[in-house]
Amino acid sequence: MTIVVIGDDLAEKLARLLNLEAILIEERIFPDGELQPRLQKEKKADQIILILQKRTKENINDYLLKYFLLSRKAKDLAPKVFGIMPYLPYARQDAVFQEGESLSALYVDELIEKNLDVFITCNMHEHRKRIKDLFKIPSHNLFLFKDLAEKFQDFKPEKTVVVGPDREAKTFVDDFCQNFSASKLNFLKQRDAKTGKIIFSHSPLDLNGKEVIIVDDIVSTGGTILEAAKIAHQLKAKTISFAFVHPIFGDQSIDSLRKINPKRIITTNTLENSKYELDIVEPLARFLKKIIQP
Ligand code: R5P
Repeated sequence: MTIVVIGDDLAEKLARLLNLEAILIEERIFPDGELQPRLQKEKKADQIILILQKRTKENINDYLLKYFLLSRKAKDLAPKVFGIMPYLPYARQDAVFQEGESLSALYVDELIEKNLDVFITCNMHEHRKRIKDLFKIPSHNLFLFKDLAEKFQDFKPEKTVVVGPDREAKTFVDDFCQNFSASKLNFLKQRDAKTGKIIFSHSPLDLNGKEVIIVDDIVSTGGTILEAAKIAHQLKAKTISFAFVHPIFGDQSIDSLRKINPKRIITTNTLENSKYELDIVEPLARFLKKIIQP
């Protein structure tokens, strides 16, 4: 019985941890922009092909199309195909905000699942829709905040406050604090309908002299998490750290946070970057051991 992992360097590492064979993907782009992902070796697996491919610097739509081509190819090579997409694109477009818009999160997921039997992602932005509302195949959303919290074990519980920058971040704070004792605080983020300006409010809590850890699922421009840091500063926090899962613009997202001189920045390699501290392959391997039996 064989299970093969196809994809990038993460796939190679995952295969090593699970004692499976890895096949890397070579990529070619034609002058007109057409993509050609190619398995370095074509091999049939009589049980499962696992695909693990993170997004690198390419356009997000190229990433999706490449994944689609790979999953269709894998379908010809194994009876079951499990797709692991560390960051799920389009998940934030989970509602029709204006008449005539596409419900992109659903439509993109319909494409992704077309050639898959199981779908796995990390901290999908379950804002209005949950993963099970979007995928018809078995789907899993792995939460990584507990793993991020392990990188702060040297912080003293009585001196630490874990802060979520908006209402949705409450579940992130709770998840982060599962095995990590600290006080919790949530800011409220509202957008002024007229000016578009983002306004934060919060319940009164003294951050004076505290070590504050601001947690979020996504950092793209860094605007949200930096605004939360500004309030924490005003409330006299002693130090500020950041913990988040997806650095949307890679190193650029992380560098945008350095300007306030945080005590610590912890993020993952769900998207390509050179500064991650949490390698997602280990939690992925732990999870996969529970659902596959080679
Ligand atoms: C919003 O709901 C998300 O959880 C993040 O807070 C947001 O996407 C971060 O974006 P940015 O870094 O551009 O403020």
